[in-house]
This record gives sequence, C-alpha cells and structure tokens, in this order.
Amino acid sequence: MRIPEAVERAVADEVAGLGKRRRETFALRLERWWPDLLAGVAAVHDDPEAVALRLVTVAARGYADRPRDLQRLDERRLLRPDWVQQPGMVGYACYAERFSPDGTLAGVAERLDHLRDLGVTYLHLMPLLRPREGDNDGGYAVADYRSVRPDLGTVDDLRDLATTLREHGISLVVDLVLNHVAREHAWAAAARAGDAAYRDYFHVFADRTLPDAFERTLPEVFPDFAPGSFTHDDELDGWVWTTFNSWQWDLNWANPSVLVEMADVVCFLANLGVEVLRLDAIAFLWKRLGTDCQNQPEVHALTQALRAVARIAAPAVQFKAEAIVGPRDLVPYLGTGAHTGRVSDLAYHNSLMVQVWSMLATGETRLARHALAALPPTPPAGTWITYLRCHDDIGWAIDDADAAAVGVTGPGHRHFLAEWYAGLHPGSWAEGLVFQHNPETGDRRTSGTAASLAGLGASRRDPEHAVARLLLAHAIVAGWGGVPVVWSGDELALPNDPDWAAEAGHEDDNRWTHRPRVTATDLAAAHDPGTDAERVRSGLVHLMGVRAGLPQLHAAAATTVLTDTDDGVLAVVRRDPSGSFVGLYNVTGRSCPFPLARLHELGLARPWEALGGHRLVTGPDGVLLLPPYAAWWVVDAPPGA
Ligand code: GLC
Repeated sequence: MRIPEAVERAVADEVAGLGKRRRETFALRLERWWPDLLAGVAAVHDDPEAVALRLVTVAARGYADRPRDLQRLDERRLLRPDWVQQPGMVGYACYAERFSPDGTLAGVAERLDHLRDLGVTYLHLMPLLRPREGDNDGGYAVADYRSVRPDLGTVDDLRDLATTLREHGISLVVDLVLNHVAREHAWAAAARAGDAAYRDYFHVFADRTLPDAFERTLPEVFPDFAPGSFTHDDELDGWVWTTFNSWQWDLNWANPSVLVEMADVVCFLANLGVEVLRLDAIAFLWKRLGTDCQNQPEVHALTQALRAVARIAAPAVQFKAEAIVGPRDLVPYLGTGAHTGRVSDLAYHNSLMVQVWSMLATGETRLARHALAALPPTPPAGTWITYLRCHDDIGWAIDDADAAAVGVTGPGHRHFLAEWYAGLHPGSWAEGLVFQHNPETGDRRTSGTAASLAGLGASRRDPEHAVARLLLAHAIVAGWGGVPVVWSGDELALPNDPDWAAEAGHEDDNRWTHRPRVTATDLAAAHDPGTDAERVRSGLVHLMGVRAGLPQLHAAAATTVLTDTDDGVLAVVRRDPSGSFVGLYNVTGRSCPFPLARLHELGLARPWEALGGHRLVTGPDGVLLLPPYAAWWVVDAPPGA
C-alpha cells in the first residue's frame, strides 16, 4: 500500500535529526504498519487519512525520542516476537505502596528476591500515575498521565525502577486508563471552564433525554456506591457520562483528538520503559444507543490504530486488554476476523477464573468442561493472562446458554456462587464479602483473597483441604498456557484484611479487603516450614519451576478441554510439536478415575507426571486414580526415566 505523500513529508520532518539507519528503520516500520493504522482509523472516523497523519506524527516523535537502551529492547523483542508466550513467563500484580517496604516505587526493588524466587518475569504495578485527590478508585481516576503519584516517587523513579526490573529480566506492566479521566484532569477542567473543544472530549448532554434513552439498556457497574451512568455537573451545566464513579468522566472516543492524545500517552509511557500497557476497562470505549455499550466493534478498530502507533514507535511494547466480559465477547480482544493479530497481545481469561472457583464450590466439572470447550479458538499470537484472583471483585460471569446446556440456570448458578463464596451456603468454607448487590437484578459479586475464598479465612473453616485446593487452583491456572499472574498476598495465603474500611476513601469499597499489605512478617512466615504461607509459596515456586521446563505450555499451543471425563475431573490437553501435555485435575475431596488408555490415545506413550516427577502406573483395570484435589501435569517420560 502506498503511503500518501503528505504523510511521508510530515514524518520526514520528525525524524530528520536521526541517522540514516534509524530513518530507514522508521520507514520500514511505517510501511509495515500504515495499512493497519489506516484501516483501524477508517472504521471509526471520517477523513481517516487526516487522522492517521496526526497519529503517524505522534509515532514518529515517539520513535525519535526512544532512549537507546529501549531501542535495543525493541531489537531483542523483534528477534523473539513470542517472548510473552514463553512457558517461563510468570506474572505478579500488586499495589506498589502495599508491596514495597517503604511504600515507594524505589522500595519495590528491595523486594526483588521475593519476586525472583517465584520466577516472576512480569510485574504489574497497580495505577501509579497521578490520580485525583481523595477517593480515586485505587488510582483509576487519573488526573495527569505524565506524572507519578507524589507519595510513590517521581517520573525518574519510575524510569529507574523499569530499568532495574529489566536488568533482572522483569517486564514492567502499567495501567493505561483510557475509558475515563478524573474530573480534575486538565481536559475535564478545561471543559468545565467552558472550552468547547475540550467539552467535546467527553459525552455531555444538556438534559436527561439521551441519558435516559441510553440507561434503558445500560447495566450498572457500581450500583451500590455510584448508581446510574451519568452525573450532573453544575459547571458543565449538563450531564456527563460516568460509567464508573461520578468523578470518572468517560472520554468521547468518537472525537479523533482523544485517540491522538492517548497515542501520545502510549509513546510517553513506552519511552519510560513500560513494556506492557494494561488497557483498563477497554470494553466500554464505544457507546451505541440500544446496546449495553460494551464490546462494540469500534473498540477493536481503535485498539488496532493505537497498537499500530505503538508498533511503529516502540515494538517492544505489548497491549493487554482488560475486558472482563462474558465468554462469547472475550476472544475478539485477542483479535478475530479482520483484527486477527492486530489488537491486544494479551487478555484476561476471566472465564477460566470464574470456572475454577465454580468447580471448587460444586466439586463438579460439567459446567466448566462445557463452557471452556465452547470458547472459540484463540489466535496463535494471542496470549491469555490466567489468574485466580486480582485486585477486583469476582463477577460471576456464567453464560446462561452454557448453564442451560448442563441443566442448570444462569441466574440460579450465579446466585449459588455468590452465596457460597460469601460463606452463606450450608457447608461453605469460604469467607468472602458481597460486593455491589444490585437488588433490581439480584446480581451480587464477591470480594476476598484466594486464601479466604478457599477455606483459610479468619475462622479457618477448612484448613485441612484449603492448601490443596489453592495449589490445585494455581496448577489449573499455571497449566493453561499464557501468562499466569499471581495476585499479591495470594502466594503467602494472606486472608482478608479485616480493617479494609479504616482508610479514608475506602469505606464503601470492600475490594480493599483483598488488597492486603505485604509485611516483612508475612515474608518471614513464608520461610517458616509448615505455615500456610510456606506451603502455598513453596507449592507455587515448584509449579512455576516445572512450568518453565515444559514447551507445551508455550501460549501458542492449542488447548482443548475433554468433555467426556468423570464429573470430578477436568482434563486439559495441549498439543505442541514437542509433544502433548495433559493437565488432570480432581476438583473433589474424593479419589476420581481417569483411564490410562486415554493418555496413550492422546499421544503419551510413557505418561510421566511432571509435578511429582514419576511415571504413572495403574492397577489391573487400567484406571488411574487421582487423589483428592490432585493436580497432575502429564507429559511423555523424559529419556531414561
Ligand atoms: C477496571 C479496574 C477496576 C476499576 C475500573 C474503572 O475494571 O480493574 O479496578 O474500578 O476499571 O477504572
């Protein structure tokens, strides 16, 4: 495809100061990514060439400013484009101030040993750009994308930390909050001051006519503490779209200037050394009357345009979609149809997370087998973030059709899970909290740490099985393929924080119960044999170590879930040219069968259980018995074993 002359002229100015080699590299990247950029923009904006020209100018500036060490990183990543898919990838996510011993970004580096023991190669630090003062949704109400929260440090500290992490083989992951800004952000302030150009950065309505029309089909994200999706602002003299809290103003992505501004922020963060951008709440970017205003096709077109900019300026950078949506809407975030290979590199496997907790509560795999087998295939370059817990609540995203297929109802099963994990159901071992009960829909979500949800809460309802249950859950997550991300504190089996409401601004939001501080005492307990912390942490260290040596856990290997197993067993098959992998998981407290012959059929001539390091043998009936809560990673026996 020919690049328009106007574009060539504009970029020539931007890169004029660079040497010949760098100018040539830029020209090659532009040639490679221009078609993606233009197609992305054309799906959304009139006059796509003019908008694409503005974006290419931003990309050229970002390219020209790219520091030397990051240019080298670009080279390195281009030589191994599947770096993020390697079985040795392990993620960790935390709030810097709750993990770092002195609460600063610089202090995070003092906990490198802890991260390295777990094998961490990817560190997601929760929002750290300057938010509004007071309540700010854990930093998700950004007031300035170009400065760091003052208590955490400075932009220089962020750059230094990224450099230190990189030197230790850890990629820094940072949030890019692109659906909304704080009411205090300069764009919102200008809009409030009456600047028409900035008013158009937001969705502002003079009266309730359109808000009412939209709200007929809009679900509520925070029905409890932020009901409705619009907020009246006196200074604006109108209603502004606020999907989340009243002080988080949704950006108007139909305005090309918003896209151009965000592209510039992408380049800024990339050039500080951020390697993965977590595209926060990306499902919500595009609004369409009569819909739930999530997962609209324009979201993917916009992502494609932004990604093309990032690929031109800083190809080391990967995009991670934070789209916590139903299973049917999930895969497009990794690229399907015309967007295959052109949108996010990574996306959260929310369905897997929900199904893991569902299997543990029911001791049954039928629903999970059906739902996970029904997911469309992921594109080979698309990589799941697999996880058991994160900083957010768990929304019980059980699809009604999946539930019906196994003879239960969606609402009924969601009700059961919410009850079970709040510890309200007879026999439940869990001690979670109900988050955002919506009396209109009956919907309830769940807060709680993995330990508290698995039976190691304050009342220790089931300490006997809880550790086994946790390690089983972590094994399913780590054995899926993709990047397993451990939520801070879960590796130490930390229970819910009972004092979560004590901090100003947190009192209404019980997600803070599962965002514990990691203290020196907690870390010491992890080395004290026999403690919950030690058992869980050493189990995780072992899982991640074995994982790194299994090529079948490269994210590109195809995953299949067997649908015809015993109802207590989940069997996950991964096929790779290097051989097959079968993950066998018993989600019950009793022994469950799996026929050995099945492993042979799946291509495993001499089945070897990689986590235990031994051959699998059966009795005369040819059936393997998985002990309660067993997790087996079965591959072909290594030579000589
Ligand atoms: C994402 C974040 C969540 C936040 C919301 C609004 O879903 O994970 O914590 O409340 O976006 O930014």
